[in-house]
Amino acid sequence: SAAFPDERERTLIAIKPDGVQRRLVGQIMQRFEQRGFKLVGLKMLQVSEDLLSQHYCELRTKPFYPSLLDYMSSGPVVVMVWEGHKVVQTSRTMVGHTNPAEAQAGTVRGDFSFHVSRNVVHASDSPEGAQREIQLWFQSKELLKWECCDQTITC
Ligand code: PPS
Repeated sequence: SAAFPDERERTLIAIKPDGVQRRLVGQIMQRFEQRGFKLVGLKMLQVSEDLLSQHYCELRTKPFYPSLLDYMSSGPVVVMVWEGHKVVQTSRTMVGHTNPAEAQAGTVRGDFSFHVSRNVVHASDSPEGAQREIQLWFQSKELLKWECCDQTITC
C-alpha cells in the first residue's frame, strides 16, 4: 500500500545508558508504538569506542566530546530503527530539545531528564543523518520487513 508517499522513512533512536539504567526502555518504546510507527530494528549493546567515534564524528572537537563518549560507554544502550511518515521530524518533536531545561513537558527529555549530559535518548536529526546512522549501527539483515497479517490490527 502507498497511503503516504514517504511511509518508508526511517530514523535511528537510541536509549542511552541512563535510560536503560533508570528502567525507561518500555515507556520510551511505548511512545513510538502508540504514535503508530513501525519497529524494524532493535538491539541492546555495549557500544564500542570505535562506533561512538564514528557516530559522533562531527562533535570530536567539542569540549564535551570526551565526557559524551564516557557517558555513552557507561552501560548498554538500546538502539532502534523506526519507520513511518515523517518519522525523523516527528521523533525529534517527541524526544524534545537536546537541552532538557528547554524541552517541553510531554517530550521524552521534558518528562525524564534535567541535564544535557544525561538526556536519555538520541534521535537522528535528518533523513540523511538517519541513513548514515542506521548503516553504522545495523547490518541490513538486522532490519526486518513485516506486514500485519492479523486482520484485527491496522498496519
Ligand atoms: S552542538 O554543539 O550544537 O553541535 O551540539 P548539540 O547539537 O547541542 O548536541 C550534539 C550531541 O552532543 C550531546 N551533548 C552533550 N553531551 C554531554 N555533555 C554535554 N555538555 C553535551 N552537550 C551536547 C547532545 O546530547 C547531542 O547528543 P545526541 O546523542 O545527538 O542527542
